Amino acid sequence: MAAVPEHIAIIMDGNGRWAKARGQERFYGHIQGVQTVRNITEAATEAGVKYLTLYAFSTENWNRPKDEVEALMKLLVKTIENETERLNANNVRLTTIGDTMRLPEPVRLKFEECMKSTENNTGTTLNIALSYSARWEITEMARKISQDVKNGLLDSGSINDSVVASYMTTKAMPDPEILIRTSGEYRISNFLLWQIAYTELYFTPVMWPDFTKEDFFKIIADFQTRERRFGKTGEQIEKI
Ligand code: IPE
Ligand code: IPE
Ligand code: MG
Repeated sequence: MAAVPEHIAIIMDGNGRWAKARGQERFYGHIQGVQTVRNITEAATEAGVKYLTLYAFSTENWNRPKDEVEALMKLLVKTIENETERLNANNVRLTTIGDTMRLPEPVRLKFEECMKSTENNTGTTLNIALSYSARWEITEMARKISQDVKNGLLDSGSINDSVVASYMTTKAMPDPEILIRTSGEYRISNFLLWQIAYTELYFTPVMWPDFTKEDFFKIIADFQTRERRFGKTGEQIEKI
């Protein structure tokens, strides 16, 4: 049977609609969404997935109403406070990608504290995309590469796709084999554009607060039946 994927990325979507459908405020959906994050992190550990990247807050999400942004920032702090002990108990390492300098200081400090506390854990890496967008990341890559070329640290003739990948925020992890989006939306919303060049895509109508470990395991099982050809023919793949 095909191997368990090393890296799964998820666009966690549908919290607001889930809450509205229950006559509740959008924020109630975000609170439920945190439970799902806990369950799916556990599921990733159980399945032996090495990296789980979760899209928690996009660059574009800064444009949401001020109240919602503030409530989400507070929820992030509270969640990290509550969950750090469990992450350590489960041998999970926390990392972040994104323009974290834009985060309010208490949020940034909480994440830094949790990353420090979990840095030696050797199980699943839970990588949270915060104030992240792929175009921001690609723009930063271009800026850093041009600076290094200008400073004589990099020869422009030697730039290839592994050099570019080494300037991305995900440089320490393999590209995701699977990208999941919940809530029935069929778009990428500025997530990991470089990294998903050959990723298998899964779109599910389930809203993020309702997404279960079983849903997650089913996707992994389906992935294991897919033939990934990377531009070759099916016959070439069978011979390997
Ligand atoms: C995803 O749920 C969580 C974040 C983007 C923070 P949404 O808040 O986008 O929920 P919907 O899409 O409005 O239902
Ligand atoms: C994508 O969800 C961002 C996150 C899950 C953090 P959105 O709900 O912000 O995406 P759009 O606006 O519907 O594309
Ligand atoms: Mg949404």
